[in-house]
Amino acid sequence: MSRLLNNSAEVSPPLDRWNSLAARGVQVDFPFFLAPMVGLSHVALRATARSYTPRGAQNLLFTEMLSSRRLPTERMGDRPETATEPTEINLVPQLLGNEERFIAASMRKLEVMRPAAVDINMGCPVSQALKHNWGVALMGDPTYAEEVVRTTVRLSRWPVSVKLRTGLNDDLEYLLDFCRMLEEAGAAWITLHPRTAGQQRRGAANWDYIGRAREALTIPVVGNGDVQTAQDALSLVRRTGCDGVMIGRAAVARPWVFWQIGEALGLPAPLGREDEQAPADGYAEGREFHRAFERFVDVAEPRFLERDARKRVNFFLHWGARWLDFGHELWRRASSAPDMTETRSRVEAFFTKPQRMTARTVLRG
Ligand SMILES: Cc1cc2nc3c(=O)[nH]c(=O)nc-3n(C[C@H](O)[C@H](O)[C@H](O)COP(=O)(O)O)c2cc1C
Repeated sequence: MSRLLNNSAEVSPPLDRWNSLAARGVQVDFPFFLAPMVGLSHVALRATARSYTPRGAQNLLFTEMLSSRRLPTERMGDRPETATEPTEINLVPQLLGNEERFIAASMRKLEVMRPAAVDINMGCPVSQALKHNWGVALMGDPTYAEEVVRTTVRLSRWPVSVKLRTGLNDDLEYLLDFCRMLEEAGAAWITLHPRTAGQQRRGAANWDYIGRAREALTIPVVGNGDVQTAQDALSLVRRTGCDGVMIGRAAVARPWVFWQIGEALGLPAPLGREDEQAPADGYAEGREFHRAFERFVDVAEPRFLERDARKRVNFFLHWGARWLDFGHELWRRASSAPDMTETRSRVEAFFTKPQRMTARTVLRG
């Protein structure tokens, strides 16, 4: 597997910790992952991101958080949250929950997704999560969190990972003890978004904590937070030695970031783009945004109910267009269109003029 990453001067994440998960079905040789994001990480964004993955490379793509209370009574695939493509692989559904009976019933539902692994959400900071004692609330009670991990591992046919934050407070020693507990309880890997619950997504993610967690554990540690460009992703690896990078908001705006990273690491271009270079400047990225948008809509439109598709398309533009110079205008025009045909033509009209994407924007919210 490591053959893929040996070809460049850039520092690629080490693969040895992933290799030990390969026998359990987690095949990772390109550890740059799509983050779980409510309203965004559904089949259409995953298909778009996959279309930019270096040919033959194996990464992981997360679903948005799925409530373990809701999953058991739902028909899988009816909502965008649970819809999958028959050919989808490397999928990691994320569960929000804490009670054994709901987790057990959810596991049975997840079968149809053919997951590579299942992730436990220990990062969601909204008041509902705190009230129900799940999401980041679990980080306030290590004994209970340990029980949730052990139970989930016992009930799961797949490896179980945990996505967590710094915690309820900014306390590195507490965080490291918590991470050691997760490893001890059977987590196959962790993804750390180093912000406290109170920070939500404001302020800077403290990447140093990712490096410290990696030193403290023997399972893979994936770093997450504030990666906006391919160079940011590679800096995070260089600075922390992490085993992987998870990208959220920027992967909505520039899903070709996976291609750009691959190119920097000397990997092949994505399927169908063999003779091309990854978009390298603001205008090339502007053109690619239009292409990615078309791809996203092509997947969303036939799979989701019209109301759901429009909501998802508008939300994609709401987040993704932030990096475009006139992104707000694009979102305003497109999201006020009366139907999807008109949304498409307004987006098309916007891109008849060259549009520029900035490398970085001020990330709020
Ligand atoms: C709209 C939105 C929805 C999110 N939903 C989830 C979620 O369902 N589960 C989760 O663990 N994190 C969720 N997150 C957090 C992201 O996965 C990620 O940790 C965070 O955005 C920081 O990474 P980034 O700077 O690359 O975006 C969400 C973030 C956004 C912007």
